[in-house]
Amino acid sequence: MSTVTPVSTNTSQRKKVTTLTFRQKKERGEVITMLTAYDYPTAMAIDKAGIDSILVGDSLAMVVLGYENTLPVTMEEMLHHARAVARGAKSAMLIGDMPFMSYQVSVEDAVRNAGRFLQQGGMDAVKLEGGRERADAVRAIVGTGIPVMGHLGLTPQSVHQLGGFRAQGKTATAAKRLLEDAKILEEAGAFSLVLESVPARLAEFISKQISIPTIGIGAGGGCDGQVLVTHDLLGLFDRFTPRFVKQYANFHAEMNKAFADYIDDVESKRFPAVEHTVEMSDEEWDAFQKEIK
Ligand code: KIV
Repeated sequence: MSTVTPVSTNTSQRKKVTTLTFRQKKERGEVITMLTAYDYPTAMAIDKAGIDSILVGDSLAMVVLGYENTLPVTMEEMLHHARAVARGAKSAMLIGDMPFMSYQVSVEDAVRNAGRFLQQGGMDAVKLEGGRERADAVRAIVGTGIPVMGHLGLTPQSVHQLGGFRAQGKTATAAKRLLEDAKILEEAGAFSLVLESVPARLAEFISKQISIPTIGIGAGGGCDGQVLVTHDLLGLFDRFTPRFVKQYANFHAEMNKAFADYIDDVESKRFPAVEHTVEMSDEEWDAFQKEIK
């Protein structure tokens, strides 16, 4: 097995990242980093690398659970994965993504389910999709003391309404509506905002027009921070890779090769070898043989 030296060898715990850190980073012009995670070891590795924030995204539905889109994932499934991430990451700010139908039906549902992410999932904040139509929910959740991150542009929970996973805000009218929505979410108390698949010049303009940090995905370098789906970055999800993703590894191919090598080793009896085997002394073995006679 090859050994890889971890990039971060700092064993002392970093200071916990909070909404205040987000605000200060924007004020200082420092970029905010965010990645998704859905399990303990990944959360641990991302946290150790020094990330600002980990999103337990509802992309879980696609990249981990194998669904076609994000709609089928439930609160229970999100909480199950949120808890695993919370056990692995100690310093990053942890954000639970509110799944489809957990906040759209009523403001009461929205508040109750947001609370579950903190109480039962170990999260520090929640994220939800939508603009003006979600302002009341954002206001109510923030009113209970729970930080809310908004999400505008390509909002995957509206994939059927949008006619597919397509870029948003490309016309003057759509761009104006996006800017208005960003201001409405800021006014409703959101501490930050994801901008997904929108033109770079629009994302940069919106970022300058609001005081809360924008986190871009497929929205260019003018946002206050960046987020990617970790499975895309690692090349773990082989169904498709959005154009805006930079792949830093090809783990799907690596895994495939490791599994094929294992099968080959077992079939050809190269594994397990002596070093993988538990020994028993000749003395004990002889005693055992006598015992069973
Ligand atoms: O669910 C998710 O991973 C997300 C990111 C793409 C921002 O919402």
